[in-house]
Amino acid sequence: MRVIIGKDYNDMSKKAANMVAAQILLKPNSVLGLATGSTPVMTYNYLIKLFNDETISFKDVVAVNLDEYIGLSKENPNSYRYFMNDIFFNHVDVKPENIYIPDGMAVDLERECQEYENLIRQNDGIDLQVLGIGNNGHIGFNEPDLKFEGVTHCIDLDEETIKANSRFFQKDDEVPKRAITMGVKTIMNARKIILLANGPEKAETIYKAINGKIDPALPASILQLHPDVTFILDKEAACCIEKKESITLCT
Ligand code: GLP
Repeated sequence: MRVIIGKDYNDMSKKAANMVAAQILLKPNSVLGLATGSTPVMTYNYLIKLFNDETISFKDVVAVNLDEYIGLSKENPNSYRYFMNDIFFNHVDVKPENIYIPDGMAVDLERECQEYENLIRQNDGIDLQVLGIGNNGHIGFNEPDLKFEGVTHCIDLDEETIKANSRFFQKDDEVPKRAITMGVKTIMNARKIILLANGPEKAETIYKAINGKIDPALPASILQLHPDVTFILDKEAACCIEKKESITLCT
């Protein structure tokens, strides 16, 4: 595991964008696994800048997003599809037919999950997966559980997650209670993973994910077993990390 600590949110976002850019330069037709949430927003801004500078192009990239709320259409500004179009896809040259996000309005949700997993496989898997982390240690929408969830599936969101997400909705009863998410296995099958976190409120979760025991109660802890994972943090989120042999710290 590598841990890169940026000076601040801006610096860590630049470092994250540079890693994504390097992936695209080395393999222009990369399959990128992408994340929502507020954490990666500045990383997307930097990627747009690198695109505008003509440093990178997304024309051959395939984008597969981690998750989507069940019951929100793509026209709903709170859906992850809308969010991704708004903050990223609409500003770069990724082909619309190469963008995949689970359909939270699918009539047959189980089938939607299976088809999503199949399409990742048909694209030969994810080259680089970008992750954020929930306050309870979730990745994608894989909530704390008694076991690690497998492949893409539907999930009931935790009260804590619903509360955290309510900041984006006008009324509490509008906040979705369910979602489709790639499973932990889908994520762990990615060839390379970067996890981004910033701010003091993520410090304890990051400490547990990196230094704690590998436990489905903190889903991100399984990343300790991934052969190519990099945590990209700001100083505040990184404040509690303890050095250990399996961690390469870069500041
Ligand atoms: C949601 C998303 C996660 C994201 C998390 C953290 O639950 N499904 O992918 O990592 O929010 O969000 P934020 O970056 O806003 O803290």
